[in-house]
Amino acid sequence: MSFKRLCTLLAVSSCLSIASAHMQMSWPYPLRSPLDPLNPPEMKDYNMISPLDPSGDDYACKGYQYNTPWRPTASYNPGETYNITIVGGATHGGGSCQISLSYDNGVTFKVIKSIIGGCPIALTYDFTIPTTAPSGEALLAWTWFNHEGNREMYMNCAVVDITGNARSRSKRAATAALARLPSIYVANLADINSCKTVEMHDVVFPDPGKDVEYGGDMSSAS
Ligand SMILES: *[C@@H]1O[C@H](CO)[C@@H](O)[C@H](O)[C@H]1NC(C)=O
Repeated sequence: MSFKRLCTLLAVSSCLSIASAHMQMSWPYPLRSPLDPLNPPEMKDYNMISPLDPSGDDYACKGYQYNTPWRPTASYNPGETYNITIVGGATHGGGSCQISLSYDNGVTFKVIKSIIGGCPIALTYDFTIPTTAPSGEALLAWTWFNHEGNREMYMNCAVVDITGNARSRSKRAATAALARLPSIYVANLADINSCKTVEMHDVVFPDPGKDVEYGGDMSSAS
């Protein structure tokens, strides 16, 4: 049964409670994850499944990179493939997702994987850390533009450790390679830009990068 049909069948109040049961990244544990056993209760955001504020005030990462102690929850080697996992009760018909890295506390995010259509219905997605990724602590973001429902942007960020770059490139070369990756797609945040996603259409990212996966009704022809 579709989300919409469910809503017409149920009272408006229960429809709203379904609409507010969204999705969250469960692995790697994002900052303030309620699922992370090492997070003390006062550091858990039990609304992790909620989207960013539509104003954009809590972009990026709900602001958690500024007010939460950093503790890497995953360690990655450049050139190797890992996964993210998503959990929650409402996939809103899927949509499009990106996986991005930030090395500047969330000011800029660079895309390492785009999933166009059907995301996050599969609930787990592989990505590869670019061989050129600089070493050090970074924020790994999962962002999502839902297919159905309110026009929203979801964003959870995990602190990850990128270990010694296998090719031992200079820091400068690594930073330059990072800068060439596409910037994260941002929409539905009023004070940041005027981009709006369209309901019932999966976002086709204008600059998805080299690592693209298609799902739902989408293909490379989209
Ligand atoms: C995702 O990665 C974790 C290890 O980080 C592994 O235990 C798990 O099996 C992987 N999941 C899938 C679906 O590949």
